[in-house]
Amino acid sequence: MHKDIERIIISEEAIAAKITHAAAWINEHFANKNLVMIGLLKGCVPFFGRLMTQITLDFVIDFMYVRSYHGTLKSTGKAQIVTDIVASIIHKDVLIVEDIIDNAYTLRDVIDHLRQKKPNSIAVITLLDKKAGRKVSLNPDFSCFEIGNEFLVGFGLDYQEKLRNLPYVGVFKIKQN
Ligand code: IMP
Ligand code: MG
Repeated sequence: MHKDIERIIISEEAIAAKITHAAAWINEHFANKNLVMIGLLKGCVPFFGRLMTQITLDFVIDFMYVRSYHGTLKSTGKAQIVTDIVASIIHKDVLIVEDIIDNAYTLRDVIDHLRQKKPNSIAVITLLDKKAGRKVSLNPDFSCFEIGNEFLVGFGLDYQEKLRNLPYVGVFKIKQN
C-alpha cells in the first residue's frame, strides 16, 4: 500500500467487477441511442478507460476539463470549464462520466453548460457517490459505489494532482505539517 494511504476502501478487484456491471447497464440503457460519452478530466481517466472497452455499442467519446477543487481538500462551489467538448451533441444521448460526485456543483454546472448544446438527453454515471456531501439535489443514473464523507484518492482521484495512478480507492492520510 502507498505510504499516503490510511486504508483501502475499494479494491482493484471490486472496481473491476463493478465496472463490468456498469458497462452492461450502458449496453442495455443506450441500445438504439446515439450515445456520446463525455468524460470529466482528469479524474475520469481510469474509470472511462476501463468502462469503454466493455461497451459493445457504437458510440463517440469526448472530454471536458473541469476544475472545481483547485488541488485542495475543499470545493470552491463553482466549476470552471477549462476545456469544452469538440463533438456535436445536438439530438444525441449524452452520458457524463464522473469520478466522484460530492456536493454536485460540478455536475450542475456541466449539465447547465451541455444543455445549451441541445442534446436529446443527458445521463450521468459515476464511479463514486458521496451522497452525504450533496448541496445540489442531483443524482447519477448509475453509481458504482456509495461512499462516506472521507477524502479519497486513487483510481483517478487526486490530492494536489498526485495519486491518481493508484489501482484502488483509498482514504488519504492527512499530513500533519
Ligand atoms: P463536487 O462539485 O463537490 O461534486 O465535486 C466533484 C469533484 O470534486 C470530483 O470530480 C473530484 O475532482 C473532486 N472531489 C470530490 N471529492 C473528492 C475526494 O474525496 N477526493 C478527491 N477529489 C474529490
Ligand atoms: Mg473530478
